[in-house]
Amino acid sequence: MSERAVAVAFVVSILAALGLTAVYAAGGDPQVEGALLLLALGGLGVGLLGWAGGLLAHLGEHTEPRRRHPAADGDGDVAVATFEAGVAEVGRRRLLARLLAGAVAALGLAAVFPIRSLGSAPGSQLARTSWRRGVRLVTADGTPVQLGALELNTFTTVFPEDDVGSADAQAVLIRVDPTSLQLPPDRLAAAPQGHVAYSKLCTHAGCPLGLYLAATQELRCPCHQSTFDVLRGARPVYGPAPKPLPQLPLEVGPDGTLRAAGDFTEPVGPSWWDLPR
Ligand code: FES
Repeated sequence: MSERAVAVAFVVSILAALGLTAVYAAGGDPQVEGALLLLALGGLGVGLLGWAGGLLAHLGEHTEPRRRHPAADGDGDVAVATFEAGVAEVGRRRLLARLLAGAVAALGLAAVFPIRSLGSAPGSQLARTSWRRGVRLVTADGTPVQLGALELNTFTTVFPEDDVGSADAQAVLIRVDPTSLQLPPDRLAAAPQGHVAYSKLCTHAGCPLGLYLAATQELRCPCHQSTFDVLRGARPVYGPAPKPLPQLPLEVGPDGTLRAAGDFTEPVGPSWWDLPR
């Protein structure tokens, strides 16, 4: 492969990588971006292979013809011409090296741009839901839940009154005999008259809990059968869930409705994202 062809391959790679950057910055087009990435990587690869092939072509066995001594007339001119050709070759290689560096730099630029697609860091947003002190518990149809309205040993799904249908704030409200609850004093106080609420999101992989086993007073996840003991802080007693369901602290409002006394005791959902890193 000639050095001119190698240079052309590197130039194609540079132009394609710059084009890829421009297309991404303008909003992106998967087909065009794919084609440009192919050209950028292909040009770089073809150029490198061609250049390496040219260098390796000089290797191998060579036999230099034996010269007569003293030098024949004209040998001096041959030596000068050979030297000048070598200088020209060094110049061409320098150009190729610069083009190669340009191609790698342009590809690097194109690779850095997609970092923008990661968006902003979520910060503490994942640790909070829309529950806050004083927000009333409502059912899926928006009806506020009155203290005592729920039958003993039954459950219902509740949402914050201003965020009905929320994926992360959904909770299960269960009414049990208050004397059967085995919770630390502060959490017991957050379960008025046996009304205890936990996050509805399983701590294994985030499936919504949909089954209350009244006989054993346990919540079961339909995905992998993790089972949580309602009376003992919803700690897991079976299945792959690694930690208890976060509790939603409750209080009773002046109108007799159940209200949140704050947000969940812990971040809700799968526990893998807040493991120590
Ligand atoms: S998501 Fe609940 S057990 Fe797997």
